[in-house]
Amino acid sequence: MANTFIPLGSKDLLTFASLSPREVAALFDTAAATKRSPAEYRAALAGCSVIMLFEKPSLRTRVTFEVGPARMGGHAIYYDHSKDRIGQRESVRDYAKNLERWVDCIVARVFSHAVLEELARETRVPVVNALSDLHHPCQGLADYLTLAERLGGITGLRGFELAYIGDGNNVCHSLMQGAALTGARLTVITPPGYEPSAPVVSECRTLAERHNTGGSVRVTTDKAGVRACRAVYTDTWVSMGQEGDAGGRRRAFEPYRVDGALMAAAAPGAWFMHCLPAHRGDEVTDAVIDSPASLVYDQAENRMHAQNALLLHLLASKD
Ligand code: CP
Ligand code: NVA
Repeated sequence: MANTFIPLGSKDLLTFASLSPREVAALFDTAAATKRSPAEYRAALAGCSVIMLFEKPSLRTRVTFEVGPARMGGHAIYYDHSKDRIGQRESVRDYAKNLERWVDCIVARVFSHAVLEELARETRVPVVNALSDLHHPCQGLADYLTLAERLGGITGLRGFELAYIGDGNNVCHSLMQGAALTGARLTVITPPGYEPSAPVVSECRTLAERHNTGGSVRVTTDKAGVRACRAVYTDTWVSMGQEGDAGGRRRAFEPYRVDGALMAAAAPGAWFMHCLPAHRGDEVTDAVIDSPASLVYDQAENRMHAQNALLLHLLASKD
């Protein structure tokens, strides 16, 4: 086991953009090591307590944040916030100031990203974004880790062409920031009106320039944007909290389904990716998600390895 994990510059992980390219590389190295030799990390988080505050349902994020710390000698507590939102029963400040007396890390899934920012401001322990309306950095980390494993390491991501097709919201924003930091070239394809946030697009361009990664983000409504892409990524058309608008969304997204024809328009042998949960028959056909080109279960597995690495580095940073 590595004796030290490089401390991260930011106390929290609220967005992928809080990391530097060097930190992403270090996280990937640690994730690979924990995945390869789990026994060596059996006590790496001994005595560490993580609390998970979830305003929305979850399978992957919840299970991986429970199993991961347990495998490294720590433990996690799940706190269901689906009935009362964070800040409802008592102020976010009081909540944060209580929690920091008992736990080493707060992992939160929220409707509003602003709640995460407030939590992070009000507490000295790390706060990890487990999905907000704006970002899903743990997902993005696992996704680029999954690609890096197939490309001979993180340097294989430089110039790697991938497409995201679907809603330009949380998962898309984290993939965009990840592209800027790893040097991948991401084409975002959305129906008109569902483009990613303009400030996030411009932040990504600034990030890629500042770190000179060669990463890029291009936004289009044209499905032909998948041409030459070696991976095609999609997400649900109706994110949690958007159910009231499901009908209109289905109509807008229908032409953007990932099916055999769309995959055939990408580079030969292109991989298919999805954060899951998938809505089979909507954003992706069974034939595509069940094909040998599909990486979806590897992405899900890597959620745990990426997050384990993150916890090791974040908790190492606190001393
Ligand atoms: N991809 C993802 O975050 O899945 P869950 O919603 O099941 O956690
Ligand atoms: N965009 C989806 C991601 C789920 C992991 C949502 O917010 O529901």
